[in-house]
Amino acid sequence: MQADGSIATSVDGYLVNLGHLSPAAMDRARSLTDGLPLASFAGKSAIAREVDLLVRRLARHGLVEYRLSLPRDEQDLVVIEPQTPEYWPQRAKLGESDTVVLSRFAYLRRRGNEMVLESPRAAALFRIGDPAIAATLATLSRPERISRLRRHAAAFNLDLLELLVDSQFLFKLDAKSGDGLRANEGDGNLVLWDFHDLVFHTRSTEGRHANPVGSTFAYAGVVSLPPAVRPPWPGEKIDLRKFSASDPVSPFAGLLRERHSVRDFDDEHPITLAELAQFLGSAAQVLSEWKSGANFEGGPEITYSSRPYPSAGSAYELELYLAVSNCEGLARGLYHYDAGSHALVAIEVPAQQLQALSAAAEFAMDASGPPQVLITISARFGRISWKYSSIAYSLILKNVGSLVQTFYLAATDMGLGGCAIGTGNIDLFAKMTGLEFHVEGPVGQFALGRGKNANSMKPPAHGR
Ligand SMILES: Cc1cc2nc3c(=O)[nH]c(=O)nc-3n(C[C@H](O)[C@H](O)[C@H](O)COP(=O)(O)O)c2cc1C
Repeated sequence: MQADGSIATSVDGYLVNLGHLSPAAMDRARSLTDGLPLASFAGKSAIAREVDLLVRRLARHGLVEYRLSLPRDEQDLVVIEPQTPEYWPQRAKLGESDTVVLSRFAYLRRRGNEMVLESPRAAALFRIGDPAIAATLATLSRPERISRLRRHAAAFNLDLLELLVDSQFLFKLDAKSGDGLRANEGDGNLVLWDFHDLVFHTRSTEGRHANPVGSTFAYAGVVSLPPAVRPPWPGEKIDLRKFSASDPVSPFAGLLRERHSVRDFDDEHPITLAELAQFLGSAAQVLSEWKSGANFEGGPEITYSSRPYPSAGSAYELELYLAVSNCEGLARGLYHYDAGSHALVAIEVPAQQLQALSAAAEFAMDASGPPQVLITISARFGRISWKYSSIAYSLILKNVGSLVQTFYLAATDMGLGGCAIGTGNIDLFAKMTGLEFHVEGPVGQFALGRGKNANSMKPPAHGR
């Protein structure tokens, strides 16, 4: 209870305000520690509305889980752990005659001493309490009619099936949907994703899971840190120092030595639009387009482009979105860099989302303010997975590495400063652009601006 009568909860040292509650609603809310039936606050009474508001606030902060149990049974069949702030249990509509099948992205795994059902497509994780449910899930590797399924397993009630369909662990096949294999699930952009790539993308970024992210030093007390420089092999050593100069021998070698990360920017003298244009032109502009014949029998002619940085298979799947906070001659806002015509195209976004994007970058760099220009590198996933299996996502990340070094060198060359950022919220980007997370989404970020000289050599606060 706060001094003003509102209630708050402390999460990892942060205070989350939950608003005011009447004494009666407060009393009812106490049951939340054990569980309160969703139906008990679905009504229109004043108490129900208050508790509903409270639970939804708690849910937005990831503080609610949902238990599913049979009446009069102590054991939970399933406990749903939301993975995104928006998750709220919904039931997809299913009938006895419908046919369902497991998504190829769904997986069961051990987490601690529990069995969890997860999927990169799902906004929630299902903790499986009853082994019979795991066994029945296994039968869903083939399409099954609901009526047949329920004859097999009592625990598999319609509520659970409908929750599983809503979270995209299962999908419904209609008469025309075929055999339930890869081509039947989702649009063409989803068909192109390999299982491990979509899991990796959604679990190594922020926005679609509730696990800890970044420098948590999770097992630092258990395993010691490998040394900064690898101890040498015991073989014969050829000392290269007598063959190479210790000082840079060319402007390029000088640029490599000079490059360093800059996290704090001079907001009195921000980067200008002309500088931004030169930076993008040097680092990322399309230099030419060319065509090649079919790669396989009956395949299409393919158009490629050439750009200043290398790209696996010349796919050039990476796109640049600029969140501009402080650039002389360019209004605040989000812009897409049209690399083909070397132009910026404004994208309407709510100011609050733009601010959230820059604030996250500021936090990741432990900086004193938002970056003047925050470049989000997104990938058009299909452009690369259309050709490559198994290695598509890893190629994208390698391409990000070469683009980021190109950014660093272009910025250094122009007397500007920049810093790569290892985290990014794929859900926020999807909301801002309206692009689905599996179609095009963030795979890297780079903060750009005119560096504050005094602080430019500060070591990374979060050790990233
Ligand atoms: C892939 C990648 C991710 C990074 N992520 C962050 C980050 O999130 N926050 C940060 O402050 N620095 C980040 N950095 C910058 C590194 O901390 C920095 O490159 C490193 O400390 C070496 O310092 P230098 O770049 O000044 O030579 C990242 C660098 C790379 C290459």
